[in-house]
Amino acid sequence: MGPGKIIVAPSILAADISHLAEEIVKVVAAGADWLHLDIMDGQFVDNISFGPAFVKTVRCLTTLPLDVHLMIQRPDHYAPRFAEAGANSITVHVEPEAQHEVAGTLRQIREAGCRCGLTLNPATPFDLVEPYLPNVDLVLVMTVHPGFGGQSFQPEMMAKVRRAHELRDSLGATYDIEVDGGINAETAQPSLENGANVLVAGTAIFRAPDYATAIRGLRGG
Ligand code: DX5
Ligand code: ZN
Repeated sequence: MGPGKIIVAPSILAADISHLAEEIVKVVAAGADWLHLDIMDGQFVDNISFGPAFVKTVRCLTTLPLDVHLMIQRPDHYAPRFAEAGANSITVHVEPEAQHEVAGTLRQIREAGCRCGLTLNPATPFDLVEPYLPNVDLVLVMTVHPGFGGQSFQPEMMAKVRRAHELRDSLGATYDIEVDGGINAETAQPSLENGANVLVAGTAIFRAPDYATAIRGLRGG
């Protein structure tokens, strides 16, 4: 998927997990394009969320693409289990704290039949991802420090989105440009204007009274 259509990826982290099946049915009916699954290990980020078994459960509940965001150490070790669980795309962090050989992990994700994504924290300079851009299917620009939903969007990250977009043109690449963290009807606009085409949103969808209205709002009304 390249530029063009706006992809909305609700983040299941903000869903009511005690009604997981209903939440998925509702958000799919409301117009979700992908589902975003935040995987946290309590090491790379200061929170613990879901594992492969949870992703497999979600896989059984929908045919939508599952966009798995690994906020974990040693993503090279765990990625095959998420691929096996039914992920369609797997995104890994570029920071040295993730403790893996980035190019090898990206290759391994593709070999497992998934699209591969690379992401960076707000404090990480975009230069770190640039060498890998010819070999990724998705670039995720974190617009909050990862670990928790419900934080405020960092507008300074738009420079990274612009850079990802410029380099996509100059490389003749087709990767998606995704933003994640504090995305709502207001912050979606600068994200799209600067070149993002995938919007992850947790709070703005799952805490809204009507999911379809919220998703339309993200797309610009
Ligand atoms: C942050 C996660 C996000 C989070 C987004 O650590 O990567 O996907 O669920 O939540 P909101 O949209 O509430 O900022
Ligand atoms: Zn995420």
